[in-house]
Amino acid sequence: MSLLEARDVTVRYGGIVAVRGVSLQVEAGEVVALLGANGAGKSSLLNGLVGLVRGTSGSVLLEGREVGRQPTFRRARAGLVQVPEGRGVVATLTVEENLLLGAYTRRGRGAAAEALASVYQLFPVLEERRRVGGAMLSGGEQQMLAVGRAMAGAPRCVVLDEPSVGLSPLMVDTVFAKIRAMADTGMGVLLAEQNVPASLAIADRVYVLQRGEVVASGTAAAIGADDAIMAAFLGLADGARR
Ligand SMILES: Nc1ncnc2c1ncn2[C@@H]1O[C@H](COP(=O)(O)OP(=O)(O)OP(=O)(O)O)[C@@H](O)[C@H]1O
Ligand SMILES: [Mg+2]
Repeated sequence: MSLLEARDVTVRYGGIVAVRGVSLQVEAGEVVALLGANGAGKSSLLNGLVGLVRGTSGSVLLEGREVGRQPTFRRARAGLVQVPEGRGVVATLTVEENLLLGAYTRRGRGAAAEALASVYQLFPVLEERRRVGGAMLSGGEQQMLAVGRAMAGAPRCVVLDEPSVGLSPLMVDTVFAKIRAMADTGMGVLLAEQNVPASLAIADRVYVLQRGEVVASGTAAAIGADDAIMAAFLGLADGARR
């Protein structure tokens, strides 16, 4: 049984089919990259998996349990949490207040403090900046805060939509190393990206999406070494990805 499994998921916006019959799995401790060009359907698939698009059909199983008919907040409570594209940091709240928003699914005394401690352990910079307003953060800090906020809910599986967008190459490496570290604690990570080299560097496995369909999948090593896939679907000529 996989941590997260999508079976034959189709996402429609009215008459437009953005995702067509996609099946994939994410295991605990894995980073799985969902790669594809603009408009391939990455965001639509992630939004469908977490319950943000009405026109989604197919099955979404979390630890073997069907969650595909549940509202987004219930999926979050069950352990499936999304870091949205564009980060969604609340500018008028401090770093710590943003993190506490993410911890709302945790119950019990001391749970919030525990959540903060675990986030600060992975992101010391957020602890240094904990009283700073969200509006004052750099792009990289905002991205780390968005990831940290998802972590604060102690999810079993995190889906991230293009966390590299707007970051310098150095910041991409920093944030991606944190994403890898998160998976190494046992979480499952589904990472939608256009930054192929950075994703391949941290991913265990890859699905390549084109026009809403999975056109290739395999280990990150195998996909990265496949020049035909790189050129045909990801627009990377040999040598351009290292
Ligand atoms: N709300 C919407 N209503 C109608 N069509 C949409 C909507 N959102 C996305 N689409 C269409 O669905 C297709 C997939 O878009 P989607 O945003 O999922 O791609 P993506 O892979 O995330 O692209 P990007 O890398 O640019 O973020 C596109 O053809 C897009 O125009
Ligand atoms: Mg997108």
